[in-house]
Amino acid sequence: MLTPIRDPSEARFEDSLRPRKLAEYIGQEKVTANLGVFIAAARARAESLDHVLLFGPPGLGKTTLAHIIAAEMGVSLQITSGPVLERAGDLAAILTNLEPHGVLFVDEIHRMAPTVAEILYPAMEDFSLDLVVGQGPAARAMRLPLPPFTLVGATTRAGLLPAPLRDRFGIVHRLDFYGPDALTAIVRRSSGLLTVNLDVAAGEEIARRARGTPRVANRLLRRVRDFAHARGEEAISLDTARYGLERLEVDGFGLDDLDRRLLVTAIEHYRGGPVGLRALAATLGEDEGTLEDIYEPYLLQLGFLQRTPRGRVVTERARRHLGYPTVQGDQEDLFPPEGR
Ligand code: ADE
Repeated sequence: MLTPIRDPSEARFEDSLRPRKLAEYIGQEKVTANLGVFIAAARARAESLDHVLLFGPPGLGKTTLAHIIAAEMGVSLQITSGPVLERAGDLAAILTNLEPHGVLFVDEIHRMAPTVAEILYPAMEDFSLDLVVGQGPAARAMRLPLPPFTLVGATTRAGLLPAPLRDRFGIVHRLDFYGPDALTAIVRRSSGLLTVNLDVAAGEEIARRARGTPRVANRLLRRVRDFAHARGEEAISLDTARYGLERLEVDGFGLDDLDRRLLVTAIEHYRGGPVGLRALAATLGEDEGTLEDIYEPYLLQLGFLQRTPRGRVVTERARRHLGYPTVQGDQEDLFPPEGR
């Protein structure tokens, strides 16, 4: 219920709720303001927009922004992803088919094979495709011109990108978790598009438990709407929102079972830390990358977990939330969470 990863079954709804223009986009103000300037400038010069790298946790709008960039540039969008591009030829086929100034969105670009990345470098830099034709002594390097295009790359972790790739993006933006006001506005906007009435407090409750993530907020809204239907409500009430979220096992901070297990494991097996992520992942039987990319960012943001030089530490705030006795010598004082 709370995973920020897109479930294929909800793609249809996601597409219908996506903002189509920068002006409709709620939150991430710095990113949208800058993109607006760069897009207007590129259009005025009749050039393709510089390549754009978007990074940050899943579900925050990277794909949506790629759609919007293409729409605002007035060009078509091609969508692919790092793991899908198995061979250099797969990428070459897409690149040679782009319309001039068109946008190519590569999701999970950090998972692109090195052999594929290699043909991307000259394509990004000079809009040319370097091919080797023939074999042995007859092999010849050929350079094919490509239409100017914009690559929009998305990754959950910019740190995993090879430096030569990262350096070829002229525009780099990090997406952050959405604050409660932005998420509430998104839930309200979505309820309008889903033609369901929503009490103000119910919208705020859904937003509060949505892990700062629009994808999660929209998913919770759809499920809570079902509970309101079942109760014959005209408008989703706060009571129904709370009841529905309870039934969905979404707690007051939007934690799910794995979040709680992660914190409890750190507390019970590692005395609250510091504990390395690898050890935690092994104890939980989960993938280290999944914990780092998907679970940890929100726990850090909440101030439930902290990164210290010696490992992860569970905060007093998390202990309190989980009903553990708090410890003297508050860790929170030693490592104040960012942004508070
Ligand atoms: N739906 C999902 N994300 C959104 C956003 N950032 N703004 C408006 N509607 C959205």
